[in-house]
Amino acid sequence: MAVHLKIREEIEQMRIAGRLAADVLDFITPHIKPGVTTGELDRLCHDYMVEVQQTVPAPLHYTPPGYTPYPKSICTSVNHVVCHGVPGEKKLRNGDIINVDITVIKNGFHGDTSRMFFVGQPPIQARRLVELTYECMWRGIRAVKPGNTLGDIGHAIQTHAEQHGCSVVREFCGHGIGRNFHEEPQILHYGRPGTGMHLEAGMIFTVEPMINAGKPDIRQMADGWTIVTKDHSLSAQWEHTVLVTEDGHEVLTVSAGMPAPPA
Ligand code: MF3
Ligand code: CO
Ligand code: CO
Repeated sequence: MAVHLKIREEIEQMRIAGRLAADVLDFITPHIKPGVTTGELDRLCHDYMVEVQQTVPAPLHYTPPGYTPYPKSICTSVNHVVCHGVPGEKKLRNGDIINVDITVIKNGFHGDTSRMFFVGQPPIQARRLVELTYECMWRGIRAVKPGNTLGDIGHAIQTHAEQHGCSVVREFCGHGIGRNFHEEPQILHYGRPGTGMHLEAGMIFTVEPMINAGKPDIRQMADGWTIVTKDHSLSAQWEHTVLVTEDGHEVLTVSAGMPAPPA
């Protein structure tokens, strides 16, 4: 399978899906506080997607090769959970950090975005990791323009993370997205400048670095989905869906409440 370059009509549908995914994050933001369970966040998002937006939550029953069907509508990854945290009975506590990852389907097109949230007042190291990861995502996005390569994106992310004593998770990457949740190309969050595929206008993919405060190694939990850091260090992730334009890029997962890009 090759990389699918999107045409104008597809790009317009991807703008719609991207905005809707970001809107779910705006919607859930005021609910993220001490005492709420991740299962409650899932139900609130599920009902908002299905009833208010009339979108389909892409994670629900999603079954990549080698996986069991994903049982919930969103991913909630708390503290040392790297990604794919499955919502459940777990109550958020003051000082936690949490990633909420939303993927909606509208008119057959996918929008995929995630943000980090502070629960109450996390310790300064946790806040720094979240901010560093946000900068990493944006350094990756800012490398997106025709003529640059996938390695340029990965390099921008990796160097910034490692300069600050943190590490990049290797096993999961960004991905092409469109009518499929995950399609080519893979967007590694590490790499060397000038290597890999050249970017072309019309490509749409996610940039979603997972950055660990400690070592990069991960483990999968017995539920078959939840990924944690092997050393139990904190992990953070942010995600946008991005279009390569003739002169650079356009972020598709935009909303009124999205945090401002770093200076
Ligand atoms: N949204 C995740 C991503 O950014 C994928 C989650 S797959 C799921 O690619 F099944 F866990 F939802
Ligand atoms: Co994604
Ligand atoms: Co996602």
